[in-house]
Amino acid sequence: MSIKLTFHGHATFSLDIDGTHVVVDPFFAPNNPSATKSAVDVAADYILQTHGHGDHIADTVSLAKRTGALVIANFEIVNWLSAKGVTRVHGQHLGGGFKHPDPLGYVKMTTAFHGSGLPDGSYGGMPAGFLLNIQGKKIYFTGDTALFSDMALYAAGGLDLVIMPVGDNYTMGPDDALLALDYLKPKAVIPCHYNTWPPITQDVQAWANRVRKETHTEPVILNAEESYSL
Ligand code: NI
Ligand code: MN
Repeated sequence: MSIKLTFHGHATFSLDIDGTHVVVDPFFAPNNPSATKSAVDVAADYILQTHGHGDHIADTVSLAKRTGALVIANFEIVNWLSAKGVTRVHGQHLGGGFKHPDPLGYVKMTTAFHGSGLPDGSYGGMPAGFLLNIQGKKIYFTGDTALFSDMALYAAGGLDLVIMPVGDNYTMGPDDALLALDYLKPKAVIPCHYNTWPPITQDVQAWANRVRKETHTEPVILNAEESYSL
C-alpha cells in the first residue's frame, strides 16, 4: 500500500491511496490564491469536508457533481450539499468514526474549535477535523482550530502525520501549533492555512526550524502541488 499526500495550497489536500483519491476541503484555483490547479483537473472518489467556510468548501459541490465522489461531512453540511444536488453523501458527527470500504478505512470526525457557517449563511453545524487510519497509518487533519489540550486524546497509539494550521489570526498560530505538537507527538507535521492572505502571513521555514529544535517531529513544508509519501 502507498499513500501520497499532495498539497494544493491553503488548506486543501488530496490523498492518493493506491489509486483511490481523497480530497480534503476542496478550494482550488482561481478562488484559492495559493492554488495552481483548478478543481476541473482533480480526481476524487471521496471528499472530506472539515467545515463550511468558503476557503474549504468553495469547490465541493462542483467537484462532487463532476466526479461522483462520496462527500463525508457533518450532518448539517451533508444536508446542505444534498439540497444543492450532491447525491452521494455520508453524514458523520463529532467523535463518530465509520469504517469506509478499503482502502480509505476508518474515518473519525474530531473536535475543532472554530466556526462552520456556510457561504450562503446557512448553519453548518460544528467544525471538525479528521483522524484517518489507513491500514495502520494514522493521519490527523486537525482542521481549522484553536489549540486545545484534548488533542492529546487523538494521539493515542501514535500518529504518523499531522496536518495543522499555523497561520494565526483565524486559527492556531506558530506558537500554539508548537504546543499542539507537544500533545500530538507525530512522526511528521505539515503546516497549512498560512500566507494565503495578509492576515495569515508567516515565516514557515522559521517555524520548521523551531519544530526541528524543540520537538522530535519532522516538519515537512510543501508548496502547491508538492507531495509527501508515507
Ligand atoms: Ni474556517
Ligand atoms: Mn479556513
